[in-house]
Amino acid sequence: MDEDYEVQANSARRGQPLRVVVREGEEFVAAAAAWFSEAVGSVLAERKRCTVALAGGNTPRAIYEHLAERYVDLPWSLLDVYFGDERQVPPDDPASNYRMAREALLSRVPIDPARVFRMAGERADAMAAAREYESLLPTALDVLMLGMGVDGHTASLFPGAPQLAERQRLVLPSTSPSPPARRLTITPPVIEASRHLAVFTAGAAKAPAVAGALEGNFDPLELPVQLALRGSWILDPEAASLLRSVRT
Ligand code: 6PG
Repeated sequence: MDEDYEVQANSARRGQPLRVVVREGEEFVAAAAAWFSEAVGSVLAERKRCTVALAGGNTPRAIYEHLAERYVDLPWSLLDVYFGDERQVPPDDPASNYRMAREALLSRVPIDPARVFRMAGERADAMAAAREYESLLPTALDVLMLGMGVDGHTASLFPGAPQLAERQRLVLPSTSPSPPARRLTITPPVIEASRHLAVFTAGAAKAPAVAGALEGNFDPLELPVQLALRGSWILDPEAASLLRSVRT
């Protein structure tokens, strides 16, 4: 199933058809990498540099590895790299999103290390770490990559969390129901301000949240990933399997 779909999206989009890209296996990774490259290219057509925020978790690892291996000509030195969230662990901890991105991508492409801005997950004072990161973030990210949990969380914004009501702060500590519990996350205003954003999601376990987000009622308090409805959604067939608009 390698097709693009116009999903009859929920009320949030007020009739704007939502384009969902469904790709199998390696093609899913390739489609995600292509989206990233095209988004960066469109920004650099108008600006001298491009700010990107990377997603954490497991799904992006293969995407980052694909970018490192197949996109050697991408103008990596023109990128400022941020993160959408981080676990409150040291940067060399196996659970660190920064460590995963460094291993899979950042250590393998010519990005200026001084232009990689990681969240200080190791700091005991989480609010101080959040404030420090907030001062580093641009007014609006050019490119934001997001994952999605089985519960419909994105970044480290979890269903029902108080951080979903935040309208001033750009970064806050948060608590995950699954370990590592202590997180740092961008807040809804950062997602809303991003110029290009995409959600990359794979696996049957994500299918209910994908269908709820794209075709269910609009309620980001319950499904925080709906904050990214205006973005591109790149799914594998399993994650797309419950979408009414996707033929299986
Ligand atoms: C994190 C991520 C988180 C992730 C989802 C999906 O720190 O875990 O930022 O939002 O994108 O939990 O994770 P998987 O890709 O591992 O399913």
